[in-house]
Amino acid sequence: MRGDAGDAERQAEAALRPRGLGDFVGQPQVRDQLSLVLDAARARGRAPDHVLLSGPPGLGKTTLAMIVAHEMRAQIRITAGPAVQHAGDLAAILSSLEEGEVLFIDEIHRMARAAEEMLYVAMEDFRVDVIVGKGPGATAIPLDLPAFTLVGATTRSGLLPAPLRDRFGFTGHLDFYTADDLTTVLRRSAAMLGIDAEPAGLVEIAGRSRGTPRIANRLLRRVRDWAQVRGSGRVDRAAARAALTVYEVDERGLDRLDRAVLGALCRRFDGGPVGLSTLAVSVGEEAETVEEVAEPFLVREGLISRTPRGRVASREGWAHLGLTPPGEPTA
Ligand SMILES: Nc1ncnc2c1ncn2[C@@H]1O[C@H](COP(=O)(O)OP(=O)(O)O)[C@@H](O)[C@H]1O
Ligand SMILES: [Mg+2]
Repeated sequence: MRGDAGDAERQAEAALRPRGLGDFVGQPQVRDQLSLVLDAARARGRAPDHVLLSGPPGLGKTTLAMIVAHEMRAQIRITAGPAVQHAGDLAAILSSLEEGEVLFIDEIHRMARAAEEMLYVAMEDFRVDVIVGKGPGATAIPLDLPAFTLVGATTRSGLLPAPLRDRFGFTGHLDFYTADDLTTVLRRSAAMLGIDAEPAGLVEIAGRSRGTPRIANRLLRRVRDWAQVRGSGRVDRAAARAALTVYEVDERGLDRLDRAVLGALCRRFDGGPVGLSTLAVSVGEEAETVEEVAEPFLVREGLISRTPRGRVASREGWAHLGLTPPGEPTA
């Protein structure tokens, strides 16, 4: 749900995507490190090292992949792990790459194993072994590839096999954004979309966007809707508060899934510890969605924690729901 966007959402997103590294808000460390990698490659007149980007959905991985190509004035080829199910799929892509091109593989942790091994060789030696024929008579014909830059994105860098992870020259981990950075993102978006917005309105939206630019931009459009239909047309603090109440985003930015997970943990499992899959079933979601989307934010906010025995609600987590942890005197 929050992971992938519909067509209209995707278009709106593409329109707001920063194109150069200079427009990319926040993440100062990743930005600085990446700019060094790119500047050095440019100075040497070579394709930059392979880049791995990891972090929860909506933090700018795809955006950065496109920025790498833009900054290098290179073409970009885009595919995704689930689309690479056979080594042949990858061989076809690799063998058609041109010098200096950027190959972006989104959700790279979901690529087929057989393709992974082909990718190791391509990344390291710029070579692909094309298999001709079938069965015992099959032969591998080595094909040299032009120098290219692989940009991989993953929500789960822990799931990548070490040999793959090690072949990236640079790994950037994207973390949730501060409310200030999100306010900057929103100011830029409001200007680009011609939305009449007051700073206090943008601050209110930023504070409820789960540290995620994608969510901030989406909420901005929803608040604009509210302002146009039920308000004065202006995105101010009152409009933001009213609209976000309608969309079930609470003051801390938790949305329905976040609250469902926290609620199940406290109410059904007495605050845990409870295993991920049990928790996911109890909120009717895929374990993967709970783990990649809801959990990182709840952990970051200090509302739940991960322990070897399972997920546990913190005191703050209980308090956020207006509940008292078991064994504590009720106020
Ligand atoms: N650092 C940033 N500055 C400004 N906008 C951003 C930034 N990161 C992400 N965005 C916005 O959020 C949207 C989602 O980012 P995206 O790169 O697609 O996330 P991911 O690939 O990590 O899921 C983009 O369309 C872009 O408009
Ligand atoms: Mg993406």
